[in-house]
Amino acid sequence: MLVAPSLLSCDFSKMGEEIERIENAGADLAHLDVMDGHFVPNITIGPCIIKALRSYSRLPFDVHLMIEHPLDYIDAFVDAGADIITFHVEASSDIDKTIERIRSGGAIPGLVIKPKTPADAVFPYLDKIGMVLVMTVEPGFGGQSFMADMMPKLRELRAECEKRDLDVLLEVDGGVSEKTIAAVAEAGADISVSGTGVFKAKDTAEAIRILKCSDDKDGLLLKKVLASKRK
Ligand code: DX5
Ligand code: ZN
Repeated sequence: MLVAPSLLSCDFSKMGEEIERIENAGADLAHLDVMDGHFVPNITIGPCIIKALRSYSRLPFDVHLMIEHPLDYIDAFVDAGADIITFHVEASSDIDKTIERIRSGGAIPGLVIKPKTPADAVFPYLDKIGMVLVMTVEPGFGGQSFMADMMPKLRELRAECEKRDLDVLLEVDGGVSEKTIAAVAEAGADISVSGTGVFKAKDTAEAIRILKCSDDKDGLLLKKVLASKRK
């Protein structure tokens, strides 16, 4: 299991140091939550902050767009240094065009589904994307409770990808901690996002180690996986 700490729970007054901290503690990716106050009732960071963070870390940037018109901002996030850009299937942009825009910028496109959205909403796009992000909380805020009843959706996605012989990364976001990681791993996720679970832990490295459920010390697995998604 790869771990992507969500910077939403970090100390925003020193994000550069916080991203260095999770890199040193063994994080595999940095999850960056972008909220526009329209798609979700909260506002966070935009491309200029992500660009400023880029020089602090070599971790792949996993940018989760919770914004109403993702297509309009793809170029800005690619330019800021995003490696993976996920956007919501429920947002109001042309999904195919948005995927294409992310790909042509050289980043990996992914789709996100909110808790009330069924897994099959992303089936038509599975052969064009590198990742599906399954929300296990309503998007907008960190520190909410994990929705274990989303796990069948993860299994459904895994089964569909296997049936069609597609190698799409499955990521889970919301309420993931050492208490809930077993369910996430058991349902077949590749990457778990964790905000509170990592940043509020007493020992960051220990929290990340527990979430990993295994070791990928040299990051070899991640390098291989990301290279295959860029094709
Ligand atoms: C919520 C965000 C999550 C959030 C997760 O809308 O997408 O990435 O930071 O935080 P925790 O792990 O605290 O639920
Ligand atoms: Zn997120």
